[in-house]
Amino acid sequence: MSIFTPINLKLGMQQLRRNRRLRTNEAIRSLVRENTITPHDFLVPLFVVEGKGIKEEITSMPGYYRYSLDLLKNEVKELWSMGLKSVLLFVKVPDELKDNKGTEALNPDGLMQRAVKTVKEAAPDMLVMTDVALDPYSSYGHDGIVEDGYIVNDETCEVLAEMSLSHAQAGADFVAPSDMMDGRILSIREILEEENYVNTGIMSYSAKYASAFYGPFRDALDSAPGFGDKKTYQMDFANREEAIKETLMDIEEGADIVMVKPGLCYLDLVREVRDNVDVPVAVYQVSGEYAMLKAAAEKGWLDHDAVMLEQIMAFKRAGAQIIASYFAKEVVQLLG
Ligand code: PBG
Repeated sequence: MSIFTPINLKLGMQQLRRNRRLRTNEAIRSLVRENTITPHDFLVPLFVVEGKGIKEEITSMPGYYRYSLDLLKNEVKELWSMGLKSVLLFVKVPDELKDNKGTEALNPDGLMQRAVKTVKEAAPDMLVMTDVALDPYSSYGHDGIVEDGYIVNDETCEVLAEMSLSHAQAGADFVAPSDMMDGRILSIREILEEENYVNTGIMSYSAKYASAFYGPFRDALDSAPGFGDKKTYQMDFANREEAIKETLMDIEEGADIVMVKPGLCYLDLVREVRDNVDVPVAVYQVSGEYAMLKAAAEKGWLDHDAVMLEQIMAFKRAGAQIIASYFAKEVVQLLG
């Protein structure tokens, strides 16, 4: 029965339905709450650097750090003890190791490969995902190989596949291609099958937009594009239906988990992707989103913790099963 039926109008003060009954106190609110936040929701991004004893704050990401491998260990142990059981690794590669083809990405003793092993040593049951894209390794700061100013697709896919295999060999549980080349999921899946890494998962950045919100991340890894932008491979933020196309293609090619990125500005797509696929959907609350809240809170303009929880809950409500977030630790600490 609609609330606009005549009987309701006639009743006047005696309303049959009062929605506020379910909001009377915290006990009833928690009883009827549709979504909750737990440590199991999170994927924790970690930035790794060469060296020893390094824990350096990223200027545009206050409260977030790059770790050398020795200190990464402590951080991973702490995350594990808090119930945070999945990490997503990114490496900052020294300039002298960068080239156009991302050769260093395939080094079996490279920083990423050692980082995977370090995490497993610190917390053997921690789920380890690795970022797969050329930008941290590229002298051009692009996600693929550059030829005449163009980011070539198929050659890049070959390197990404080799890179994924190398991460799997180092012990990664999942590879997470974030590059947006066409067909890379298939190339990666094929090489993993051929080499008998059949249980290595792929979390695909399926609907990844060309976004200005990645700025602080590029500071963190010193990986900003040396020329142009990423609009010939990352998606146009004016597009919605394309996100579904990209995502369905990635699933066909063998992605186990799909992702929408960035987060808050793209919640419409989180819900839409969730309604259209039968695999888990992740969302990435990116560096710029983190930086905005930190800056506003520093100025005293927003209540940091309250806004943080509201945003994380928005991802759950939109349908994300996995949230990659720089706030993961703070959220779990806050929830106690
Ligand atoms: C690299 C990559 C980026 C991010 C994740 N993987 C940057 C980019 O595409 O330029 C952004 C993450 C963030 O901003 O937090 N391919």
